[in-house]
Amino acid sequence: MEITLQSPLDMHLHLRDGDMMKLVAPLSSDFAGAVVMPNLVPPVTTVAALEAYRGRVLQAMQSCPFTPLMTLFFTPLGEKELEHALSTPGFFGMKLYPAGITTNSEGGISNLAEAERTLKLMEEMGIPLLVHGESHGFVLDRETEFLNTYRQLAMRYPKLRISMEHITTAAAVSLLDEFENLCATVTLQHLLITLDDVAGGLLQPHLFCKPIAKRPEDRDALLQAALDGHPRLMFGSDSAPHPRSKKEACGCAAGVFTAPVALPVLASLFARHGALDKLQAFVSDNARALYGIRATDRTITLRDEPSSLPVPSCYRSYGCEVVPMYAGATLPWSIVR
Ligand code: DOR
Ligand code: ZN
Repeated sequence: MEITLQSPLDMHLHLRDGDMMKLVAPLSSDFAGAVVMPNLVPPVTTVAALEAYRGRVLQAMQSCPFTPLMTLFFTPLGEKELEHALSTPGFFGMKLYPAGITTNSEGGISNLAEAERTLKLMEEMGIPLLVHGESHGFVLDRETEFLNTYRQLAMRYPKLRISMEHITTAAAVSLLDEFENLCATVTLQHLLITLDDVAGGLLQPHLFCKPIAKRPEDRDALLQAALDGHPRLMFGSDSAPHPRSKKEACGCAAGVFTAPVALPVLASLFARHGALDKLQAFVSDNARALYGIRATDRTITLRDEPSSLPVPSCYRSYGCEVVPMYAGATLPWSIVR
């Protein structure tokens, strides 16, 4: 079996910066483009920082034809700043983090009232809003507790394109069908694992991420929506590399590094469920239709042949070391080079 994908997109990707970016960026180069997250230290809050970061991303991608869709870390910007952002090549949207909710999000929003004016302007100007939707409540309930905030945003700004990033619950999938202006990304790991895979046996630090993986019925609802080709659900890996020393440690950093395995694992997952014909929508067409994205024209072919080499147990260069999901495993599908 074989599938050729047209311009796959990763709609939520952490590329980091510096040496780590040099190591991980080329591992996403089978994608035609990606939405690049702004939670650097310090976060990307200005157009000047965004332009400079985009330049470094393109350089780290070497000569790969890759379209970085850059995001600004949400701060309450005014009309002039938003207009400047809109006229900047590569600007995609604003990523809103509740303050302190995840890696490097201390400068996020503590009270949505601070954001109202900017959100209204974004609605008028057609700037997408991407949201890390978790409350500060009990860890398993954080996403469901945030769903009311999504409802309020969707009702108050009916023309604002709001993406619920990395959804992890059946309730979030249902919410998608309540409001036309909501869309969502889902990661590779949340289509595959539950909390049991993270903490049901010996603790698996490389599967620890935020939002944490939930119950089997949540995973099943996410997977079903993806396999059905839900038109407002998009692949966003949330591939989030951390140095091995920060993962295999007391106080493990949150993030699953999936970039190097994402496409073959997605192909085998969709094939196993007889839904290969829906993969193109999930990894590209839905995002293009929702946002009118024009990414580099690329095709990539995947085949149900295990690659001869197992997934490296770690990637190491520029003084950095990162461990991917499926480290040491042989995947049933591979990319045809
Ligand atoms: O697990 C996560 N890692 N979730 C996030 O929201 C951020 C990300 C990171 O940047 O490491
Ligand atoms: Zn993320």
